[in-house]
Amino acid sequence: MSEVRSAGIDFGTSNSAAALPGDGNSPARVLSIDARAEDARLLRSVLFFPEGSPDVLAGAAAIESYLGDFEGRFLQSIKTFLPSPSFTHTEIRRKAWKLEQLIALLLTRIREAVEREAGGPLTHVVFGRPAVFSPDKERDALAEARLLQAATLAGFPAPTFVIEPIAAALRYEESLARDEVVLVGDFGAGTSDFTLMQLGPSRRNALDRREDVISSSGVYVGGDRFDSAIVEHKLLTLFGAGSTFASLLKRVEVPTWMTRKLLAWHELSMLREKSNLDFLRNAVKTSDRPRELQNLVTLAEENLPFHLYRSVESAKRELSTSERVTVSFHEADIDIEARVTRAEFEHWTEPLRDELSRAVDRCLASSGGLKPDAVFLTGGTSKIPSVRQLFAQRFGESRLREGDAFTSVAAGLGRAAGVVARGGASLGRGAVSVQGERDELA
Ligand SMILES: Nc1ncnc2c1ncn2[C@@H]1O[C@H](COP(=O)(O)OP(=O)(O)OP(=O)(O)O)[C@@H](O)[C@H]1O
Ligand SMILES: [Mg+2]
Repeated sequence: MSEVRSAGIDFGTSNSAAALPGDGNSPARVLSIDARAEDARLLRSVLFFPEGSPDVLAGAAAIESYLGDFEGRFLQSIKTFLPSPSFTHTEIRRKAWKLEQLIALLLTRIREAVEREAGGPLTHVVFGRPAVFSPDKERDALAEARLLQAATLAGFPAPTFVIEPIAAALRYEESLARDEVVLVGDFGAGTSDFTLMQLGPSRRNALDRREDVISSSGVYVGGDRFDSAIVEHKLLTLFGAGSTFASLLKRVEVPTWMTRKLLAWHELSMLREKSNLDFLRNAVKTSDRPRELQNLVTLAEENLPFHLYRSVESAKRELSTSERVTVSFHEADIDIEARVTRAEFEHWTEPLRDELSRAVDRCLASSGGLKPDAVFLTGGTSKIPSVRQLFAQRFGESRLREGDAFTSVAAGLGRAAGVVARGGASLGRGAVSVQGERDELA
């Protein structure tokens, strides 16, 4: 009989991770997949194509090389594009790259690292996916089909998909000494997903767990949008938002669509187009706030969006443990020091927590009145105190549980991969509540 080798892969918006199922009853093992990273278990889901070189770098090496002043094309949050039919390809170094091919570059790195640890080619692989890639069914199916194609291009066997919060639930279950109904919340960079599931020793060895998944829901609220809130409320004006310039005989405002590109890093490259740059350079000459508008010009000219993203994201993380932080950004001729308090941040992000709350409502609404005994929070964005607080207020502090925020999903996928390899039923997606409606995708 040929050897069975299985693994779970968590392709994340910001971080990716992978795990092998444990032997017998031992827990799944999260693998080192990026030796250059601060935490080798996490591969940052970014790519860098240095100019004038055939190389493509991924993870920490991509970031190092890009920040080390190498010219080229840097891509981040690639997962976000999966449900978008308008993203068909992008041109890099005179070659058209399909989204699936770009993702396959990252997945290939992961497969190679995993196969080294597994001792040969995989026979079974379980991939995570958000509970909801898109509320639009066609887009949702497109996203999954693209991820499947990327996995195949990367040399993986055809993957089985399990939604990310179910995977996190499977990880949490390994720690349980008695049965519980658990609400799992996985708060990532791109999405937050919820699952209500029956977990515990009485059922954890069953090969078919589909009946245990009570309900799931998801929403496009993750760390990236918490970053954008800081940019929107604190930084936009420092890049010329609301400033005016002379146009013929009157003064007009700089178009908001231009400054608002700062809220979506991946769209900032549009400002580098010659017509847009010429327009902005001209506007600086008669601007009522030339210094600020010049900051936007420099950001585009010098290709600094990722540098700005790093400053903002790092300030946001610091706000999880400090009451006030300073967003410091000193690149080329841009000098920005902007103070942000925890209270301000909480105020700006209230609408995001409302969206999270409604997604929890949708998950619980379809549960037939079952209340969770425990609430397991995972994903990097669960570290934001006000996000945790939302759950403490609603379910009680004593019910909250936490695991490793960045690897629970991968570990659960690793465990699911072991079950699939033994011929178990895939947990798939189950019934997912999509903005109020029940969406019965198997
Ligand atoms: N200490 C912290 N405080 C607040 N946010 C944090 C902290 N640490 C990490 N984050 C945020 O967590 C997010 C990354 O978390 P995670 O790795 O769980 O996401 P992901 O799996 O890549 O995304 P997704 O699951 O949506 O595809 C980022 O937005 C990051 O800024
Ligand atoms: Mg995730």
